[in-house]
Amino acid sequence: MSEFDLTGKTAWVTGAGKGLGRAMATALAGAGSVVALTSRTRSHLKSLAGELGENTLVLPGSVSDEGFAEECVEQIGQIDILVNCAGISPTFKRSEQVSNEEWRRVLNVNLDGSWFCARAAGQRMLEQGGGSIINVSSVHAVTGFERIAPYAASKGGLEALTRVLAVEWANRGVRVNTIAPGYFGTELAEPLMHSRWGEKITGAIPLGRTGEPTELGGAAVFLASDASTYMTGTTLHVDGGWTAH
Ligand SMILES: NC(=O)c1ccc[n+]([C@@H]2O[C@H](COP(=O)([O-])OP(=O)(O)OC[C@H]3O[C@@H](n4cnc5c(N)ncnc54)[C@H](O)[C@@H]3O)[C@@H](O)[C@H]2O)c1
Repeated sequence: MSEFDLTGKTAWVTGAGKGLGRAMATALAGAGSVVALTSRTRSHLKSLAGELGENTLVLPGSVSDEGFAEECVEQIGQIDILVNCAGISPTFKRSEQVSNEEWRRVLNVNLDGSWFCARAAGQRMLEQGGGSIINVSSVHAVTGFERIAPYAASKGGLEALTRVLAVEWANRGVRVNTIAPGYFGTELAEPLMHSRWGEKITGAIPLGRTGEPTELGGAAVFLASDASTYMTGTTLHVDGGWTAH
């Protein structure tokens, strides 16, 4: 059996309705995992569940709602893998113009929501004696860019959270890592790529192009599986080389 095989495991993927979460859920299911899918829009999840077949559970809702994560964990039962992918980047404004409401909206989903899910799934994994949590940050957790203050702060916080949980839970079998994507052509990134910054962004990617969502699947399966048993607290950049310079 391959060390990448996820047969017998259950993965909970948030933000699974579209984009990167959808691609990672598909990759995990392809490696043999049962997948539980969360995002805000039920119809998106239903369509993905239709593609993936019987081994799927659909759990629509918002990760930032208090109590939602615990309800999901209750419904899923065994959880071996969590991919914390739900995220938003609705504002593209100079920092001095960002309102408190805009700041809180982003932090509430990207950081609070990820924390709620990691805590709830982590409790279940600790009871089971093992699991793998994958938080999805961004290259902007470690590299500056203009007009994304709340987004970058939320992703930097998520990477810090990853390291703390990894240290706390290492001796109880729960690994916690981050995938930091560069730019991928999804609904979240498209408006920026089509703005006057698009060319600047593509020019800064050594591979010279944005990523395809399917190009994240391998990293997700790797961190979820026994192929990465000696990795915890780390960040895997899947960014076409963005952070290499
Ligand atoms: N696309 C990129 O270039 C890029 C780069 C770096 C990081 N990321 C990160 O990857 C993740 C996914 O981004 P994407 O590009 O696929 O975005 P997307 O907008 O295509 O999809 C986001 C998904 O998250 C879900 N979602 C949003 N808010 C939610 C909430 N409160 N509760 C539950 N689900 C919610 C949406 O319903 C949707 O299914 C985000 O965390 C984003 O910050 C994306």
